[in-house]
Amino acid sequence: MFSRIMATGSYLPDKILTNQDLENIVDTTDQWITERTGIKQRHIVADDQSTCDLAEFAARNALEAADIDPQSIDLIIVATTTPDRVFPSTACLLQQRLDIHGCPAFDVQAVCTGFVYALDIADKFIKTGAAKRALVIGAETLSRIVDWTDRTTCVLFADGAGAVIIEASEEPGILSTHIHADGSFAELLTTNGGITDVGPDGLDNILIEMKGNEVFKMAVNTLGRIVDETLSANNMQKSDIDWLVPHQANIRIINATAKKLKMSTDHVVTTVQNHGNTSAASVPLALDTAVRDGRIKRGETILLEAFGGGFTWGSALIKY
Ligand code: COA
Repeated sequence: MFSRIMATGSYLPDKILTNQDLENIVDTTDQWITERTGIKQRHIVADDQSTCDLAEFAARNALEAADIDPQSIDLIIVATTTPDRVFPSTACLLQQRLDIHGCPAFDVQAVCTGFVYALDIADKFIKTGAAKRALVIGAETLSRIVDWTDRTTCVLFADGAGAVIIEASEEPGILSTHIHADGSFAELLTTNGGITDVGPDGLDNILIEMKGNEVFKMAVNTLGRIVDETLSANNMQKSDIDWLVPHQANIRIINATAKKLKMSTDHVVTTVQNHGNTSAASVPLALDTAVRDGRIKRGETILLEAFGGGFTWGSALIKY
């Protein structure tokens, strides 16, 4: 038994923050951000919206595309680093909104690799017969934990959600998934606190901290290795890949991976210019963009890859 992608969906909040807008917030320029990251604009959540709101829009968008009854979903996984609450999980909050009862629902926290982790888990549930139809989501409101005084990070991160529905199939589908972590790099991309630091006034002011240069180098090297691992596990050549759908962190990291694959940028889905780095939402957002605009077609082979805090990294090779 395999799992295959039935449908995709996504949602971006209405508010757009451009590089010019950022010039009024920190000491930066549109030119610097464009040259160093490829980002031109990003979407920012409304004050009254939460990660679960974004996840719900993306989920409904995917359910509509799949044209299925939500009651047929028997597994919900939400990848997020910015859950609405410490508990219940965002997946349980979403399950309630979709009026689905009884099936397992849980969050996965692997930062920017979160969606690939969630897809790996959902694929294993389906392959073992434990689920038949899974809703897998990446959703983030990173703008809530960005330090808006730190120009080295606030220009990068943003908000959004992407979703896929996968179902059991006799034909592949998801050909393979590969996930990894190395916690010894935890301090290079982290937050300045968490539950351990809750003071008398509660949980306040958790902010992203990053050593950008070191993260950059690790990301480029590690993504190169995961490409090799994925191709060799499937006995495939670089030329067998029709589309690269990478994590959207930085155009220079994306181009380095494309170069490693000897892929022309025409076959690389890039949304980083419009979305910024939406962490766990970035890969499903990019996937949905290219499915809906007709670039990715049924039967094509696509490579999803991601790298993020932890460090975590992973890939999924898919016959769409
Ligand atoms: N605007 C203007 N100047 C900026 C700036 C900004 N937004 N951010 C940093 N700078 C400055 C720095 O202060 C530094 O100035 P200095 O030379 O006077 O000290 C200079 O630009 C170069 O900084 P550096 O950090 O070396 O730039 P870089 O080319 O490495 O680019 C990142 C910085 C963050 C874009 C890059 O390191 C990166 O993308 N890293 C990976 C981040 C990432 O993807 N994280 C998530 C992984 S999931």
